[in-house]
Amino acid sequence: MALETFAPTGPLAGEVRVPGDKSISHRALILAALADGPSRIDGLATGADVGSTITCLDRLGVRVSQGVVHPPRGGLRPPDGPLQAGNSGTTMRLLAGVLAGQPFRSTLDGDASLRRRPMARVARPLRRMGADVLARPADDGDEETAPLEIRGPLPPGPLTAQVHRLPVASAQVKTCLLLAGLHAAGRTTVIEPFPSRDHTERLLRVFGVVVTDGGRLEVGGGYPGAEAGLVGRAVSSGGHAVSVVSDGWPLLHPVELAVPGDFSSAAFWIVAGLLVPGSALRLAGVGVNPTRTGLLAVLARMGAAGAVALEGLPEAVDAADGAECGEPVADIVVRGLEPARARRGSVPGVLRATLVTAAEVPSLIDEVPILAVAATQAEGVTVIEGAGELRAKESDRLEALASELGRMGAHIEAGPDRLVITGPTRLHPARVSARGDHRMAMALAIAGLLTQPVAGRQTEVAGFETAGVSYPGFRRVLEELAS
Ligand code: S3P
Repeated sequence: MALETFAPTGPLAGEVRVPGDKSISHRALILAALADGPSRIDGLATGADVGSTITCLDRLGVRVSQGVVHPPRGGLRPPDGPLQAGNSGTTMRLLAGVLAGQPFRSTLDGDASLRRRPMARVARPLRRMGADVLARPADDGDEETAPLEIRGPLPPGPLTAQVHRLPVASAQVKTCLLLAGLHAAGRTTVIEPFPSRDHTERLLRVFGVVVTDGGRLEVGGGYPGAEAGLVGRAVSSGGHAVSVVSDGWPLLHPVELAVPGDFSSAAFWIVAGLLVPGSALRLAGVGVNPTRTGLLAVLARMGAAGAVALEGLPEAVDAADGAECGEPVADIVVRGLEPARARRGSVPGVLRATLVTAAEVPSLIDEVPILAVAATQAEGVTVIEGAGELRAKESDRLEALASELGRMGAHIEAGPDRLVITGPTRLHPARVSARGDHRMAMALAIAGLLTQPVAGRQTEVAGFETAGVSYPGFRRVLEELAS
Protein backbone atom coordinates (compact mmCIF):
# COMPACT_ATOMS: atom_id res chain seq x y z
CA MET A 1 0.00 0.00 0.00
CA ALA A 2 1.52 3.32 -1.07
CA LEU A 3 2.08 6.02 1.52
CA GLU A 4 2.04 9.47 -0.08
CA THR A 5 2.94 12.63 1.81
CA PHE A 6 1.32 16.04 1.48
CA ALA A 7 2.52 19.31 2.98
CA PRO A 8 1.35 22.94 2.93
CA THR A 9 2.21 24.63 -0.37
CA GLY A 10 2.42 28.09 -1.81
CA PRO A 11 -0.38 29.30 -4.12
CA LEU A 12 -1.78 26.80 -6.65
CA ALA A 13 -1.80 28.30 -10.12
CA GLY A 14 -2.51 27.15 -13.66
CA GLU A 15 -5.01 25.45 -15.91
CA VAL A 16 -6.25 21.92 -15.31
CA ARG A 17 -8.14 19.59 -17.62
CA VAL A 18 -9.72 17.09 -15.25
CA PRO A 19 -10.46 13.54 -16.48
CA GLY A 20 -13.66 12.91 -18.42
CA ASP A 21 -16.78 12.55 -16.30
CA LYS A 22 -16.87 9.08 -14.78
CA SER A 23 -20.66 8.83 -14.51
CA ILE A 24 -21.16 9.95 -18.11
CA SER A 25 -18.38 7.67 -19.39
CA HIS A 26 -19.99 4.53 -17.91
CA ARG A 27 -23.36 5.47 -19.40
CA ALA A 28 -21.97 6.45 -22.81
CA LEU A 29 -20.14 3.11 -23.10
CA ILE A 30 -23.13 1.04 -22.03
CA LEU A 31 -25.62 2.85 -24.28
CA ALA A 32 -23.18 2.67 -27.21
CA ALA A 33 -22.96 -1.09 -26.57
CA LEU A 34 -26.73 -1.31 -27.16
CA ALA A 35 -26.70 0.74 -30.39
CA ASP A 36 -27.05 -0.74 -33.86
CA GLY A 37 -23.61 0.38 -35.06
CA PRO A 38 -20.28 1.78 -33.81
CA SER A 39 -20.24 5.01 -31.75
CA ARG A 40 -17.30 7.32 -31.17
CA ILE A 41 -16.73 8.65 -27.65
CA ASP A 42 -14.01 11.25 -27.05
CA GLY A 43 -12.72 12.18 -23.61
CA LEU A 44 -13.69 8.99 -21.77
CA ALA A 45 -12.63 8.88 -18.12
CA THR A 46 -9.28 7.15 -17.75
CA GLY A 47 -9.67 5.81 -14.19
CA ALA A 48 -9.91 2.18 -13.12
CA ASP A 49 -13.71 2.30 -12.64
CA VAL A 50 -14.45 3.07 -16.27
CA GLY A 51 -11.79 0.49 -17.19
CA SER A 52 -13.97 -2.06 -15.33
CA THR A 53 -16.99 -1.17 -17.48
CA ILE A 54 -14.89 -1.58 -20.64
CA THR A 55 -13.61 -4.98 -19.45
CA CYS A 56 -17.12 -6.21 -18.62
CA LEU A 57 -18.46 -5.02 -21.98
CA ASP A 58 -15.58 -6.77 -23.71
CA ARG A 59 -16.69 -10.08 -22.17
CA LEU A 60 -20.16 -9.40 -23.60
CA GLY A 61 -18.67 -9.10 -27.09
CA VAL A 62 -18.35 -5.29 -27.23
CA ARG A 63 -14.99 -4.03 -28.58
CA VAL A 64 -13.81 -0.64 -27.36
CA SER A 65 -10.78 0.66 -29.17
CA GLN A 66 -9.43 4.21 -29.31
CA GLY A 67 -12.74 5.67 -28.22
CA VAL A 68 -14.82 3.71 -30.73
CA VAL A 69 -17.39 1.29 -29.34
CA HIS A 70 -18.23 -1.65 -31.62
CA PRO A 71 -21.32 -3.49 -30.40
CA PRO A 72 -21.58 -7.12 -31.47
CA ARG A 73 -23.90 -7.84 -34.38
CA GLY A 74 -27.13 -9.37 -33.14
CA GLY A 75 -26.85 -8.07 -29.56
CA LEU A 76 -24.71 -8.80 -26.51
CA ARG A 77 -23.09 -12.25 -26.31
CA PRO A 78 -23.16 -14.62 -23.32
CA PRO A 79 -19.94 -14.03 -21.35
CA ASP A 80 -17.50 -16.91 -20.88
CA GLY A 81 -16.92 -16.12 -17.21
CA PRO A 82 -17.85 -13.68 -14.41
CA LEU A 83 -17.92 -9.98 -15.23
CA GLN A 84 -15.52 -8.19 -12.87
CA ALA A 85 -16.74 -4.73 -11.85
CA GLY A 86 -13.70 -4.18 -9.58
CA ASN A 87 -14.35 -1.28 -7.21
CA SER A 88 -17.09 0.22 -9.36
CA GLY A 89 -20.63 0.27 -7.98
CA THR A 90 -21.79 2.14 -11.07
CA THR A 91 -20.51 -0.64 -13.37
CA MET A 92 -22.29 -3.30 -11.34
CA ARG A 93 -25.62 -1.55 -10.87
CA LEU A 94 -25.90 -0.21 -14.42
CA LEU A 95 -24.91 -3.47 -16.08
CA ALA A 96 -27.37 -5.33 -13.83
CA GLY A 97 -30.15 -3.37 -15.57
CA VAL A 98 -28.89 -4.36 -19.03
CA LEU A 99 -28.24 -8.02 -18.13
CA ALA A 100 -31.76 -8.34 -16.65
CA GLY A 101 -33.04 -8.05 -20.21
CA GLN A 102 -30.68 -10.59 -21.83
CA PRO A 103 -31.67 -14.15 -22.76
CA PHE A 104 -28.53 -15.60 -21.10
CA ARG A 105 -27.13 -15.98 -17.60
CA SER A 106 -24.21 -13.85 -16.41
CA THR A 107 -22.48 -13.14 -13.13
CA LEU A 108 -21.39 -9.71 -11.91
CA ASP A 109 -18.71 -9.64 -9.23
CA GLY A 110 -16.45 -7.06 -7.62
CA ASP A 111 -13.59 -6.44 -5.20
CA ALA A 112 -13.93 -6.83 -1.42
CA SER A 113 -15.34 -3.31 -1.03
CA LEU A 114 -17.93 -3.74 -3.79
CA ARG A 115 -18.94 -7.14 -2.38
CA ARG A 116 -19.95 -5.34 0.82
CA ARG A 117 -22.15 -2.74 -0.90
CA PRO A 118 -25.95 -3.04 -0.92
CA MET A 119 -27.45 -4.62 -4.05
CA ALA A 120 -31.02 -5.43 -2.89
CA ARG A 121 -31.95 -1.98 -4.21
CA VAL A 122 -31.40 -3.25 -7.77
CA ALA A 123 -31.99 -7.01 -7.33
CA ARG A 124 -35.54 -6.64 -5.96
CA PRO A 125 -37.04 -4.26 -8.55
CA LEU A 126 -35.37 -6.25 -11.36
CA ARG A 127 -37.05 -9.42 -10.05
CA ARG A 128 -40.39 -7.61 -10.03
CA MET A 129 -39.81 -6.83 -13.72
CA GLY A 130 -39.42 -10.56 -14.41
CA ALA A 131 -35.63 -11.01 -14.33
CA ASP A 132 -34.04 -13.90 -12.47
CA VAL A 133 -31.52 -12.38 -10.03
CA LEU A 134 -29.57 -14.38 -7.49
CA ALA A 135 -27.57 -12.44 -4.91
CA ARG A 136 -25.66 -13.33 -1.78
CA PRO A 137 -27.59 -12.65 1.44
CA ALA A 138 -25.63 -10.12 3.49
CA ASP A 139 -24.30 -11.17 6.88
CA ASP A 140 -26.62 -8.78 8.69
CA GLY A 141 -30.26 -7.88 8.07
CA ASP A 142 -32.10 -8.52 4.84
CA GLU A 143 -29.59 -6.86 2.51
CA GLU A 144 -28.23 -8.62 -0.58
CA THR A 145 -24.72 -8.31 -2.00
CA ALA A 146 -22.56 -9.32 -4.98
CA PRO A 147 -21.87 -11.59 -6.74
CA LEU A 148 -25.11 -11.17 -8.69
CA GLU A 149 -26.21 -13.88 -11.07
CA ILE A 150 -28.65 -12.48 -13.59
CA ARG A 151 -30.69 -13.66 -16.53
CA GLY A 152 -33.66 -12.28 -18.39
CA PRO A 153 -37.19 -13.67 -18.26
CA LEU A 154 -37.91 -17.30 -19.18
CA PRO A 155 -39.20 -18.02 -21.77
CA PRO A 156 -37.12 -15.21 -23.32
CA GLY A 157 -39.07 -12.02 -23.93
CA PRO A 158 -39.40 -8.46 -22.72
CA LEU A 159 -39.37 -7.56 -19.03
CA THR A 160 -42.52 -6.14 -17.44
CA ALA A 161 -42.65 -2.34 -17.41
CA GLN A 162 -43.37 -0.95 -13.95
CA VAL A 163 -43.50 2.14 -11.77
CA HIS A 164 -40.64 2.07 -9.23
CA ARG A 165 -40.68 4.34 -6.20
CA LEU A 166 -37.19 4.61 -4.68
CA PRO A 167 -36.94 5.21 -0.92
CA VAL A 168 -33.63 7.07 -1.42
CA ALA A 169 -32.54 9.16 -4.42
CA SER A 170 -29.96 7.16 -6.36
CA ALA A 171 -28.85 7.75 -9.93
CA GLN A 172 -27.32 4.28 -10.08
CA VAL A 173 -30.60 2.59 -9.17
CA LYS A 174 -32.63 4.93 -11.38
CA THR A 175 -30.30 4.20 -14.32
CA CYS A 176 -30.35 0.45 -13.69
CA LEU A 177 -34.15 0.48 -13.90
CA LEU A 178 -34.30 2.77 -16.94
CA LEU A 179 -31.84 0.46 -18.73
CA ALA A 180 -33.99 -2.52 -17.78
CA GLY A 181 -36.93 -0.42 -18.98
CA LEU A 182 -35.43 -0.35 -22.47
CA HIS A 183 -35.88 -4.13 -22.41
CA ALA A 184 -39.47 -3.94 -21.05
CA ALA A 185 -42.67 -3.56 -23.06
CA GLY A 186 -44.42 -0.31 -22.15
CA ARG A 187 -43.60 2.59 -19.83
CA THR A 188 -41.04 2.18 -17.06
CA THR A 189 -41.14 4.99 -14.49
CA VAL A 190 -38.75 5.72 -11.64
CA ILE A 191 -39.83 8.11 -8.88
CA GLU A 192 -37.19 9.46 -6.50
CA PRO A 193 -37.70 11.56 -3.37
CA PHE A 194 -35.26 14.15 -4.78
CA PRO A 195 -33.81 14.41 -8.28
CA SER A 196 -30.48 12.63 -8.67
CA ARG A 197 -27.98 13.24 -11.49
CA ASP A 198 -29.77 13.07 -14.85
CA HIS A 199 -26.92 12.07 -17.19
CA THR A 200 -28.74 8.90 -18.26
CA GLU A 201 -31.85 10.81 -19.30
CA ARG A 202 -29.75 13.31 -21.27
CA LEU A 203 -27.68 10.62 -22.99
CA LEU A 204 -30.70 8.45 -23.81
CA ARG A 205 -32.10 11.42 -25.74
CA VAL A 206 -28.82 11.82 -27.61
CA PHE A 207 -29.09 8.12 -28.57
CA GLY A 208 -32.61 8.76 -29.87
CA VAL A 209 -34.72 7.40 -27.01
CA VAL A 210 -37.82 9.20 -25.76
CA VAL A 211 -37.50 10.07 -22.07
CA THR A 212 -40.08 12.01 -20.13
CA ASP A 213 -38.93 13.93 -17.13
CA GLY A 214 -41.55 15.04 -14.63
CA GLY A 215 -44.01 15.52 -17.47
CA ARG A 216 -41.61 17.49 -19.66
CA LEU A 217 -41.47 15.56 -22.91
CA GLU A 218 -38.48 15.55 -25.19
CA VAL A 219 -39.21 13.89 -28.50
CA GLY A 220 -36.36 11.81 -29.85
CA GLY A 221 -38.08 9.03 -31.73
CA GLY A 222 -36.77 5.51 -31.68
CA TYR A 223 -39.61 3.52 -30.23
CA PRO A 224 -42.65 2.44 -32.14
CA GLY A 225 -45.70 3.62 -30.28
CA ALA A 226 -43.73 5.93 -27.98
CA GLU A 227 -46.09 8.78 -28.73
CA ALA A 228 -49.00 6.78 -27.36
CA GLY A 229 -47.27 6.66 -24.01
CA LEU A 230 -47.20 10.41 -23.46
CA VAL A 231 -48.42 11.40 -20.04
CA GLY A 232 -48.61 14.54 -18.01
CA ARG A 233 -46.69 15.18 -14.87
CA ALA A 234 -46.06 11.79 -13.30
CA VAL A 235 -45.27 13.19 -9.87
CA SER A 236 -48.62 12.56 -8.23
CA SER A 237 -47.60 11.95 -4.65
CA GLY A 238 -44.38 13.87 -4.33
CA GLY A 239 -41.02 13.06 -5.81
CA HIS A 240 -39.30 13.36 -9.13
CA ALA A 241 -40.35 10.99 -11.92
CA VAL A 242 -38.66 9.94 -15.15
CA SER A 243 -39.92 7.40 -17.68
CA VAL A 244 -38.81 5.53 -20.76
CA VAL A 245 -41.16 3.84 -23.20
CA SER A 246 -40.14 0.79 -25.19
CA ASP A 247 -41.56 -2.18 -27.04
CA GLY A 248 -38.99 -4.35 -25.26
CA TRP A 249 -36.27 -4.20 -27.90
CA PRO A 250 -33.83 -1.32 -27.45
CA LEU A 251 -33.34 0.65 -30.62
CA LEU A 252 -30.45 3.05 -30.10
CA HIS A 253 -28.74 4.92 -32.91
CA PRO A 254 -24.94 5.14 -33.03
CA VAL A 255 -23.67 8.60 -32.06
CA GLU A 256 -20.54 10.73 -31.69
CA LEU A 257 -19.96 12.04 -28.19
CA ALA A 258 -17.46 14.15 -26.29
CA VAL A 259 -17.46 13.58 -22.53
CA PRO A 260 -17.16 16.76 -20.42
CA GLY A 261 -14.66 17.03 -17.56
CA ASP A 262 -15.73 15.46 -14.26
CA PHE A 263 -17.14 17.99 -11.78
CA SER A 264 -16.43 15.56 -8.94
CA SER A 265 -12.72 15.58 -9.83
CA ALA A 266 -12.77 19.36 -10.31
CA ALA A 267 -14.27 19.69 -6.81
CA PHE A 268 -10.91 18.91 -5.17
CA TRP A 269 -9.24 21.76 -7.05
CA ILE A 270 -12.15 24.13 -6.37
CA VAL A 271 -11.77 23.68 -2.62
CA ALA A 272 -7.96 23.66 -2.75
CA GLY A 273 -7.95 26.79 -4.95
CA LEU A 274 -10.25 28.63 -2.53
CA LEU A 275 -8.37 27.66 0.62
CA VAL A 276 -4.73 27.87 -0.41
CA PRO A 277 -4.16 31.66 -0.22
CA GLY A 278 -3.14 33.41 -3.41
CA SER A 279 -4.25 30.56 -5.71
CA ALA A 280 -5.58 31.13 -9.23
CA LEU A 281 -6.94 28.11 -11.13
CA ARG A 282 -8.81 27.51 -14.36
CA LEU A 283 -10.56 24.14 -14.64
CA ALA A 284 -11.24 23.82 -18.34
CA GLY A 285 -14.27 22.16 -19.93
CA VAL A 286 -16.03 20.83 -16.84
CA GLY A 287 -19.59 19.49 -16.87
CA VAL A 288 -21.72 21.77 -14.70
CA ASN A 289 -25.02 19.91 -14.83
CA PRO A 290 -27.20 21.42 -12.06
CA THR A 291 -27.93 17.94 -10.67
CA ARG A 292 -24.19 17.60 -9.92
CA THR A 293 -23.04 21.04 -8.82
CA GLY A 294 -24.66 21.41 -5.39
CA LEU A 295 -21.17 22.00 -3.99
CA LEU A 296 -21.00 25.37 -5.78
CA ALA A 297 -24.26 26.53 -4.20
CA VAL A 298 -23.09 25.44 -0.76
CA LEU A 299 -19.66 27.09 -1.13
CA ALA A 300 -21.40 30.29 -2.28
CA ARG A 301 -23.48 30.29 0.94
CA MET A 302 -20.27 29.74 2.88
CA GLY A 303 -18.86 32.98 1.46
CA ALA A 304 -17.03 31.83 -1.70
CA ALA A 305 -19.48 33.26 -4.26
CA GLY A 306 -17.12 35.96 -5.52
CA ALA A 307 -14.16 33.61 -5.80
CA VAL A 308 -15.64 30.98 -8.16
CA ALA A 309 -16.86 31.89 -11.65
CA LEU A 310 -18.23 29.83 -14.55
CA GLU A 311 -16.95 31.04 -17.91
CA GLY A 312 -18.22 30.04 -21.34
CA LEU A 313 -21.47 28.53 -20.06
CA PRO A 314 -23.82 28.10 -23.06
CA GLU A 315 -27.19 29.85 -22.94
CA ALA A 316 -28.99 26.69 -23.96
CA VAL A 317 -28.14 23.02 -24.26
CA ASP A 318 -29.17 21.08 -27.36
CA ALA A 319 -30.68 17.90 -25.94
CA ALA A 320 -29.95 15.87 -29.06
CA ASP A 321 -26.36 17.08 -29.53
CA GLY A 322 -23.72 14.56 -28.60
CA ALA A 323 -20.98 17.20 -28.75
CA GLU A 324 -21.22 17.61 -24.96
CA CYS A 325 -23.47 14.62 -24.18
CA GLY A 326 -26.44 17.01 -23.84
CA GLU A 327 -24.71 18.62 -20.84
CA PRO A 328 -23.84 22.21 -19.94
CA VAL A 329 -20.06 22.67 -19.93
CA ALA A 330 -17.97 25.61 -18.69
CA ASP A 331 -14.54 26.63 -17.43
CA ILE A 332 -14.52 26.99 -13.66
CA VAL A 333 -12.27 29.82 -12.53
CA VAL A 334 -11.23 29.84 -8.86
CA ARG A 335 -9.18 32.28 -6.88
CA GLY A 336 -7.93 31.90 -3.34
CA LEU A 337 -9.99 33.54 -0.61
CA GLU A 338 -8.27 36.29 1.32
CA PRO A 339 -7.13 34.82 4.63
CA ALA A 340 -9.33 36.35 7.34
CA ARG A 341 -7.60 38.33 10.02
CA ALA A 342 -7.32 36.22 13.15
CA ARG A 343 -8.87 37.58 16.28
CA ARG A 344 -6.44 37.31 19.09
CA GLY A 345 -5.98 33.72 20.22
CA SER A 346 -8.39 32.31 17.66
CA VAL A 347 -8.06 30.60 14.29
CA PRO A 348 -9.24 32.68 11.32
CA GLY A 349 -12.22 31.24 9.43
CA VAL A 350 -12.12 31.99 5.71
CA LEU A 351 -15.60 30.52 5.15
CA ARG A 352 -18.87 30.58 7.11
CA ALA A 353 -20.53 27.40 8.37
CA THR A 354 -23.77 26.32 6.73
CA LEU A 355 -26.58 23.77 6.88
CA VAL A 356 -26.66 21.30 3.99
CA THR A 357 -30.15 19.78 3.76
CA ALA A 358 -31.17 16.26 2.74
CA ALA A 359 -32.68 17.69 -0.47
CA GLU A 360 -29.28 19.06 -1.48
CA VAL A 361 -27.32 15.88 -0.75
CA PRO A 362 -27.98 14.07 -4.09
CA SER A 363 -26.51 17.05 -5.95
CA LEU A 364 -23.24 16.84 -3.99
CA ILE A 365 -23.22 13.19 -2.89
CA ASP A 366 -19.64 12.56 -4.06
CA GLU A 367 -18.38 15.95 -2.84
CA VAL A 368 -19.15 15.39 0.85
CA PRO A 369 -15.54 14.35 1.67
CA ILE A 370 -14.04 17.53 0.19
CA LEU A 371 -16.90 19.65 1.54
CA ALA A 372 -16.11 18.29 5.01
CA VAL A 373 -12.51 19.44 4.53
CA ALA A 374 -13.77 22.92 3.56
CA ALA A 375 -16.06 22.97 6.60
CA THR A 376 -13.07 22.47 8.93
CA GLN A 377 -11.94 25.93 7.77
CA ALA A 378 -15.36 27.59 8.23
CA GLU A 379 -16.41 29.66 11.19
CA GLY A 380 -19.22 27.91 13.11
CA VAL A 381 -21.01 24.58 12.99
CA THR A 382 -21.59 23.03 9.56
CA VAL A 383 -24.22 20.29 9.49
CA ILE A 384 -24.69 17.93 6.53
CA GLU A 385 -28.09 16.27 6.99
CA GLY A 386 -29.68 13.28 5.27
CA ALA A 387 -26.30 11.85 4.31
CA GLY A 388 -26.87 8.21 5.42
CA GLU A 389 -26.09 7.00 1.87
CA LEU A 390 -22.47 8.01 2.47
CA ARG A 391 -22.19 4.94 4.70
CA ALA A 392 -22.76 2.72 1.62
CA LYS A 393 -20.07 4.20 -0.66
CA GLU A 394 -16.57 2.87 -1.39
CA SER A 395 -16.00 3.25 2.36
CA ASP A 396 -18.35 4.26 5.17
CA ARG A 397 -17.57 7.89 4.40
CA LEU A 398 -19.30 9.36 7.47
CA GLU A 399 -17.22 7.24 9.84
CA ALA A 400 -14.06 7.53 7.71
CA LEU A 401 -14.26 11.34 7.57
CA ALA A 402 -14.89 11.66 11.30
CA SER A 403 -11.94 9.43 12.21
CA GLU A 404 -9.39 10.43 9.57
CA LEU A 405 -10.00 14.20 9.66
CA GLY A 406 -10.27 13.82 13.46
CA ARG A 407 -6.66 12.55 13.46
CA MET A 408 -5.68 15.85 11.83
CA GLY A 409 -7.36 17.81 14.62
CA ALA A 410 -10.75 18.49 12.98
CA HIS A 411 -13.80 18.67 15.23
CA ILE A 412 -16.09 16.39 13.32
CA GLU A 413 -18.79 14.01 14.49
CA ALA A 414 -20.67 11.42 12.48
CA GLY A 415 -24.30 10.64 13.38
CA PRO A 416 -26.32 7.84 11.75
CA ASP A 417 -27.06 10.06 8.74
CA ARG A 418 -25.27 13.34 9.33
CA LEU A 419 -21.93 15.04 9.80
CA VAL A 420 -21.40 17.88 12.24
CA ILE A 421 -18.20 19.86 11.74
CA THR A 422 -17.18 22.68 14.05
CA GLY A 423 -14.62 25.11 12.69
CA PRO A 424 -12.39 26.71 12.04
CA THR A 425 -9.55 24.38 13.03
CA ARG A 426 -5.87 24.56 12.29
CA LEU A 427 -5.32 21.08 10.94
CA HIS A 428 -2.07 19.36 11.83
CA PRO A 429 -0.10 16.75 9.88
CA ALA A 430 -0.99 13.17 10.75
CA ARG A 431 -0.88 9.67 9.36
CA VAL A 432 -4.28 8.93 7.86
CA SER A 433 -5.84 6.18 5.75
CA ALA A 434 -7.63 6.47 2.42
CA ARG A 435 -9.72 3.45 3.50
CA GLY A 436 -9.53 2.05 -0.04
CA ASP A 437 -11.70 4.98 -1.17
CA HIS A 438 -10.54 7.27 -3.99
CA ARG A 439 -12.49 10.32 -2.82
CA MET A 440 -11.23 9.92 0.76
CA ALA A 441 -7.65 9.73 -0.59
CA MET A 442 -7.94 13.01 -2.51
CA ALA A 443 -9.90 14.85 0.22
CA LEU A 444 -7.20 13.90 2.76
CA ALA A 445 -4.47 15.04 0.35
CA ILE A 446 -6.12 18.47 0.09
CA ALA A 447 -6.52 18.55 3.89
CA GLY A 448 -2.75 17.92 4.03
CA LEU A 449 -2.16 21.12 2.03
CA LEU A 450 -4.13 23.08 4.64
CA THR A 451 -2.19 21.91 7.70
CA GLN A 452 -0.05 24.25 9.74
CA PRO A 453 3.62 23.71 8.96
CA VAL A 454 5.32 21.47 11.52
CA ALA A 455 9.04 20.96 11.01
CA GLY A 456 9.84 17.47 9.82
CA ARG A 457 6.19 16.37 9.67
CA GLN A 458 3.87 15.92 6.74
CA THR A 459 0.44 14.40 6.25
CA GLU A 460 0.86 10.77 5.22
CA VAL A 461 -2.05 9.22 3.32
CA ALA A 462 -1.83 5.42 3.40
CA GLY A 463 -3.32 3.73 0.34
CA PHE A 464 -3.27 6.92 -1.72
CA GLU A 465 -2.98 4.90 -4.94
CA THR A 466 -6.74 4.30 -4.80
CA ALA A 467 -7.12 7.85 -6.20
CA GLY A 468 -6.52 6.19 -9.58
CA VAL A 469 -10.05 4.77 -9.45
CA SER A 470 -11.29 8.15 -10.70
CA TYR A 471 -8.25 10.43 -11.07
CA PRO A 472 -5.01 8.90 -12.35
CA GLY A 473 -2.30 11.56 -12.21
CA PHE A 474 -3.90 13.60 -9.41
CA ARG A 475 -0.58 13.82 -7.56
CA ARG A 476 1.29 14.97 -10.67
CA VAL A 477 -1.29 17.69 -11.36
CA LEU A 478 -0.98 18.88 -7.77
CA GLU A 479 2.78 19.15 -8.13
CA GLU A 480 2.46 21.08 -11.40
CA LEU A 481 -0.02 23.54 -9.87
CA ALA A 482 2.17 24.06 -6.80
CA SER A 483 5.43 24.55 -8.68
C1 S3P B 1 -23.31 7.64 -9.52
C2 S3P B 1 -24.29 7.87 -8.60
C3 S3P B 1 -24.02 8.09 -7.18
C4 S3P B 1 -22.57 8.44 -6.94
C5 S3P B 1 -21.63 7.54 -7.68
C6 S3P B 1 -21.89 7.62 -9.17
C7 S3P B 1 -23.72 7.40 -10.90
O1 S3P B 1 -24.31 6.90 -6.47
O2 S3P B 1 -22.27 8.41 -5.57
O3 S3P B 1 -20.30 7.92 -7.44
O4 S3P B 1 -22.86 7.44 -11.81
O5 S3P B 1 -24.90 7.14 -11.13
P1 S3P B 1 -25.82 6.58 -5.94
O6 S3P B 1 -26.68 6.48 -7.13
O7 S3P B 1 -25.71 5.25 -5.24
O8 S3P B 1 -26.16 7.69 -5.01
